[in-house]
Amino acid sequence: MSDGGERARATPYELIGGERKLREMVVRFYALMDTELALAGIRKLHKPSLDDATEMLFMFLSGWLGGPQLYAEKYGHPMLRARHLPFAIGKAERDQWIAGMSFAMEQVGIAPEVREELEGAFFRTADWMRNREEAD
Ligand code: HEM
Repeated sequence: MSDGGERARATPYELIGGERKLREMVVRFYALMDTELALAGIRKLHKPSLDDATEMLFMFLSGWLGGPQLYAEKYGHPMLRARHLPFAIGKAERDQWIAGMSFAMEQVGIAPEVREELEGAFFRTADWMRNREEAD
């Protein structure tokens, strides 16, 4: 390698502040989904209790961000797109999900440069989840 650095690059998991911060972020995300009128469109796709969703997203993001592969170890491959097919996801749903996650990251104090990076990655994933035909 040519950068001369001794240490490996920090993972996004480390950059956000590890397990405690990730849990805080996911809990905040679903709390917002549960209370913000602007997110009502995606709230209604979820079950009355958001507890399972909270635990699943926490476990999934742990691995996705470069931390422990909690979800894969317990459930195997997430097959996220297939798993979301029962829910009609278009641009509105994608944008609500992203808005909720951006707000959650901001509220729990993730550094702006890390947040910006993650917003891009979340957007690409959420956009790939779209499964509803709609006009451009
Ligand atoms: C694009 C908009 C999205 C919508 C509308 C949406 C909606 C949902 C819904 C309704 C569930 C079922 C939760 C329940 O059991 O009540 C779910 C599960 C889940 N979602 Fe999403 N989601 C979106 C995007 C994402 C993104 C971007 C990620 C990851 C970065 C993600 C990760 C997950 C995971 C890990 C689960 C649990 C899967 C399992 O059951 O094993 N979702 N989502």
